[in-house]
Amino acid sequence: MIARTNGTPISITGLGCHVPERVLDNAELSTIVDTNDEWIVERTGIRERRIAAEDEALTDICLPAARRALEMAGADPASIDLLIVATVTPDMAFPSSSALIADTLGMPHAAAYDLSAGCTGFVYAIAQAHGMLSAGLAKRALVVGGDVLSTILDWTDRSTLVLFGDGAGAVVMEPVARGGFLGFELGADGGGGANLWLPGSGSRKFAEPEKYVKMNGREVFKFATRVMVSSAEAILGECGRTVADIDVYVPHQANVRIIDHAAKKLGIPQEKTVVNVEKYGNTSSGSIPLALADAADDGRLVPGKLVLLTGMGAGLTWGSALIEWTHPTTGAAA
Ligand code: UT7
Repeated sequence: MIARTNGTPISITGLGCHVPERVLDNAELSTIVDTNDEWIVERTGIRERRIAAEDEALTDICLPAARRALEMAGADPASIDLLIVATVTPDMAFPSSSALIADTLGMPHAAAYDLSAGCTGFVYAIAQAHGMLSAGLAKRALVVGGDVLSTILDWTDRSTLVLFGDGAGAVVMEPVARGGFLGFELGADGGGGANLWLPGSGSRKFAEPEKYVKMNGREVFKFATRVMVSSAEAILGECGRTVADIDVYVPHQANVRIIDHAAKKLGIPQEKTVVNVEKYGNTSSGSIPLALADAADDGRLVPGKLVLLTGMGAGLTWGSALIEWTHPTTGAAA
């Protein structure tokens, strides 16, 4: 799917993020599996990640992020009439994590549901919220992206354990006078799904069900380097913009090598590229909103700036959004 937006401008008016307290650095990881700081930093750029406590589930991490986003937007929770939570690690299959969050925050008028699109979940969710808002089906939306991947990782598998972390981010979206989202490009290739999957986690029976994430890292790497570029080029073309117009590039934070490759191929300079993978690892659906919040902290998200978001992940899925920033956003750091 690719389209430029039309009709009422819709934008992000509030932004927040949250990560668990516990820091797991590469040195500690190398006491758990056969790895070392040098390998992890050289191959991924990751130095540390956050890990949820035993009693912390997805909604515990999403709630502080959501509260910050609402506060920044000056939005009463009761005014939210749409809540989408993008995740692959909900508290449980049902009720949805979004229904639980809506209840805790006091959103009696909100349609609330979870959305699963792997690490691209947040980009899919903001596109959905945009559609509902611009069609007039909702007036003010809260979109949360978050994951607690530490609960579905094999803590004996060094090839996946070192890559991922836990975290969440949230945005409030609503109609604005001008600017806001210019367009979206979203895609999926289920044929490549087995390169990053959790067979046995649903109704399909497998002879050898897995409890933990399985990944063919090299294939996902090839896929990632391809779609991070093609998706960004597609949305820029659709919206009549060029790479030179981009002020802030917020790529999915999976691996600094993937980010560097995409930025170089696209011709986006380092100073415009947001990178925080070194402190959080890959937080899946939390990755892009966490990076957005870091960009806000740095003072980079000011009204009038053109921001490109591009994600990719399980599905396999990918997606980009182009937004002209409209609202002053202050640091929303964890
Ligand atoms: O949101 C999407 C999520 N997934 C991704 O983005 C993953 C994309 N893929 C990648 O980022 C990279 O493929 C990895 C970081 C997963 C792996 O990097 P690589 O440069 O492709 O390494 P490799 O898989 O080719 O492995 C090279 C070597 C192997 O040893 P041998 O066979 O050459 O002796 C691995 O066994 O590195 C070894 N290795 C490790 N060594 C130390 C694999 N994992 C580790 C580790 N520590 N954690």
